Amino acid sequence: MSARELTLAAPAKANLFLEVLRRRPDGFHDLVSVFAALPLADRLEIAPEEEALVLVCDDPEVPVDGRNLVLRAAALLREEAGIRAGARFRLHKRIPIGGGLGGGSSDAAAALRLGCRLWGLPEEADTLSRLAARLGSDVPFFLHGGICLCEGRGEIVTPLADAKAPALALALPPWGVSTPAAYAALAGRPLGGRPVGPFLRALSSGDPEAVAREAFNRFEEAVFDLEPRERTLHEALVRAGARPRMSGSGSSIWMPKRFVDARVREAAAGIRLEGADD
Ligand code: C5P
Repeated sequence: MSARELTLAAPAKANLFLEVLRRRPDGFHDLVSVFAALPLADRLEIAPEEEALVLVCDDPEVPVDGRNLVLRAAALLREEAGIRAGARFRLHKRIPIGGGLGGGSSDAAAALRLGCRLWGLPEEADTLSRLAARLGSDVPFFLHGGICLCEGRGEIVTPLADAKAPALALALPPWGVSTPAAYAALAGRPLGGRPVGPFLRALSSGDPEAVAREAFNRFEEAVFDLEPRERTLHEALVRAGARPRMSGSGSSIWMPKRFVDARVREAAAGIRLEGADD
């Protein structure tokens, strides 16, 4: 097998629409969300190893032990297949951690696919989706990519074939937001009032103006209260005309690229801005 087949781009995602419906008895939340895969991506490579599962990463902030979803994905796949072969993963990290961009989940989905290729297992959609859902709520989406409607706790994925998302720019703050803390901060706040229909119609039109108008993220107010720097950045981008929305539980904020101008760049001064120039 060629090195090329044993390397995958693991893209980031943005939540273009994210409504949280309710907290469930199992502690997770039911949601309705539109996920879009982005050009920003990690790169994951796999190589044979006798029996061990090993991960090396170029970002020292990333844990390379059993906490990492790459190793958990490989272990789960191996257990499912009943095999003992090992693997050595090399992860080139480009997606910020704690940014609401799904980097760890995307790496996990890539690890499932690469494990199948290295070990000669079928990339069978139902099995991979089931394993992905066990690894995390966002992982099944990354088996599809593109633009998808995600429901349940995120694992019920419907590709949206006719969706036309505008090119997006991303503001990537240096601070992260903890996803469990963001969900906890929703307690006592109103949930579930925003239907997804108008957003889906905007997405089939592909008009950035309509997409920006109908985009929604239930986490924004709660996360702005948790992390005042997030509110300050969001407000500055709004004032500059960027039409910004937070992705997931933050901290990343997306905006249609066409709204990025000198004022928006000034509002985001000191913050990494991705996808605004290409
Ligand atoms: O599924 P995942 O491991 O990504 O979830 C991380 C945490 O986020 C969960 O432990 C839970 O606190 C919260 N979560 C949730 N509802 C979801 C997804 C995640 O409450 N749909």
